[in-house]
Amino acid sequence: MTAQIINGKELSADLKQEMKAEVETLKQKGLTPHLTVILVGDNPASKSYVKGKEKAAAETGISSSLIELPDSTSENDLLQLIKELNEDTSVHGILVQLPLPEQISEQKVIETIHPDKDVDGFHPINIGKMMTGEDTFLPCTPYGIITMMKSKNIPLEGKHAVVIGRSNIVGKPVGQLLLNENATVTYCHSKTKNLKELAANADILIAAIGRAHALTGEYVKDGAVVIDVGINRQADGKLTGDVDFESAKEKASFITPVPRGVGPMTITMLLKNTIKAAKGLSAIE
Ligand code: GUN
Repeated sequence: MTAQIINGKELSADLKQEMKAEVETLKQKGLTPHLTVILVGDNPASKSYVKGKEKAAAETGISSSLIELPDSTSENDLLQLIKELNEDTSVHGILVQLPLPEQISEQKVIETIHPDKDVDGFHPINIGKMMTGEDTFLPCTPYGIITMMKSKNIPLEGKHAVVIGRSNIVGKPVGQLLLNENATVTYCHSKTKNLKELAANADILIAAIGRAHALTGEYVKDGAVVIDVGINRQADGKLTGDVDFESAKEKASFITPVPRGVGPMTITMLLKNTIKAAKGLSAIE
């Protein structure tokens, strides 16, 4: 079998077209969704992600502003700024790009953003709502992954999903969303003993390890759906995934590439969340 490729860039382009039309309608009703992004320090990867977010927002007619703060910013100053943005009725979504310099507690920052403006879906209230299946902001990468699978009508109910990686941003929430879709979920991580055996048992394999080409075709069951969340920068500067694409695609039924896979979807779902925030805060549909 040679896998069908799920192209996240193309799907993103389609979704952005739909959102553009929706934003146009909201604007006619006097509502322009606005996202404020805060970038602390000058981590090059973070800078490039933030640029991507601003560009995608502009493409859909969402307005955005970027607040850049020095690496030496104190925790108090950042928390104070977030509190001001919480009160600012022209701001619908607040995103603080992670990671943060070590003097700032990421958890405190996440908990200070008002849950109704938490377009990352990282606030404990929103995580709790996700767990109980209530309508809320879903973390962007897991939301993008589920959207990609649904776009191909891939059945999730009763399937064995194996998630490799347990980060708060990707691994844990994507497992929860798969459970919400009635999949049977196994979480694997760095202490897991029989990784290859578990992975090779998966109907749906989610790779969020952070190590280039860690999963070869040997880890993939025939006909499995393989979702590669890895974004590893190679020595030549090119991006590559956690999956060895060439060997995995020979066994999978569907596979996501890197680049043009999950990455673009993450930004697209952030825009979805920003529109949701704007509608929720303004009570305009
Ligand atoms: N850093 C890496 N991914 C993310 C994300 O989804 N949101 C934020 N705020 N920071 C990140």
